[in-house]
Amino acid sequence: MVQKWCSVLLTVLFIITVSSLAGTAEGADYVGVKKCKACHIKQYKSWQKTTMAESFENLKQGVKVEEKKKAGLEDKDYTADASCLKCHTTGYGQPGGFTSIADTPNLAGVQCESCHGPGADFREIMKKNKEFKRAEAVSAGLIVPSVENNNCMDCHGSDSPFNEKVDAKYKFDIVERLKKTHEHFPLKYKH
Ligand code: HEC
Ligand code: HEC
Ligand code: HEC
Ligand code: HEC
Repeated sequence: MVQKWCSVLLTVLFIITVSSLAGTAEGADYVGVKKCKACHIKQYKSWQKTTMAESFENLKQGVKVEEKKKAGLEDKDYTADASCLKCHTTGYGQPGGFTSIADTPNLAGVQCESCHGPGADFREIMKKNKEFKRAEAVSAGLIVPSVENNNCMDCHGSDSPFNEKVDAKYKFDIVERLKKTHEHFPLKYKH
């Protein structure tokens, strides 16, 4: 009898361990820009003025027709086209990321988490303590983009139809572009 209960207990513990490990391996979920806006209103307002905020609109028929033609694309509706969505939405194909405009309208366009990483876990750290350690937030998925450490080329590389071979204005100069992501404000606390 005792043996039987011991093995049941071990099985339960095993399942709990395996599922929590799987949780860590998958990484955090995406939460959407509204969940960052409350605490980072200045960065939000500045980001909102960039083309990134409107990036989903560019997939609609009749928008940027000339630019599309130059890049070899016909004028049609691309708003459900997986090959465009991976670069024009936030977290497409990843846990908690964009799936469709009907189900996840809050994740349309290139948002904070496209550059800073999925926010469900690091946001909790920022919430709890304004003086959080950057290393702790980074281990929870935060990216502080720099020339050395960034994911920009996932979308700005040569597999983008809008690359420098199509038009020099699409050339990706990392130093210049890092500055133009949104206006930057000095942090108040030490991290
Ligand atoms: C409850 C408030 C809160 C929320 C919500 C929040 N943050 Fe923060 N975040 C902070 C605070 C506080 C700091 C530190 C500010 C300072 O030192 O001036 C910070 C710092 C940052 C930094 C700078 C980190 C560094 O080490 O350079 C980034 C980037 C950032 N947040 C991105 C985000 C993103 C993206 C989201 C949404 C997914 C988000 N934050 C949600 C409060 C928040
Ligand atoms: C998920 C894909 C994705 C990632 C990752 C990404 N970008 Fe972009 N970025 C885009 C798209 C798409 C546009 C163009 C939006 C449009 O015109 O539809 C863009 C536009 C921009 C612009 C122009 C904004 C303007 O209004 O002129 C800058 C600057 C920029 N990105 C910088 C960066 C930097 C720096 C990184 C890395 C830290 C980065 N991007 C990572 C997809 C991405
Ligand atoms: C690999 C990532 C990637 C893919 C895939 C992608 N785009 Fe983009 N797209 C970008 C980036 C990055 C920019 C911004 C280029 C810049 O500002 O330098 C952009 C810009 C645009 C623009 C604005 C161009 C301008 O001059 O204003 C349109 C329109 C657009 N993309 C439509 C599409 C469509 C439609 C598809 C699918 C057929 C698509 N994109 C697939 C990354 C991508
Ligand atoms: C295209 C990439 C990109 C996007 C999108 C983006 N950021 Fe940033 N963010 C950066 C870069 C680059 C830095 C500067 C990192 C550094 O040098 O410390 C930064 C820095 C920050 C900081 C630190 C303070 C500051 O002003 O520099 C905060 C807070 C922040 N971002 C919040 C946000 C929020 C909130 C959003 C969405 C509304 C957002 N970011 C969207 C690239 C991006």
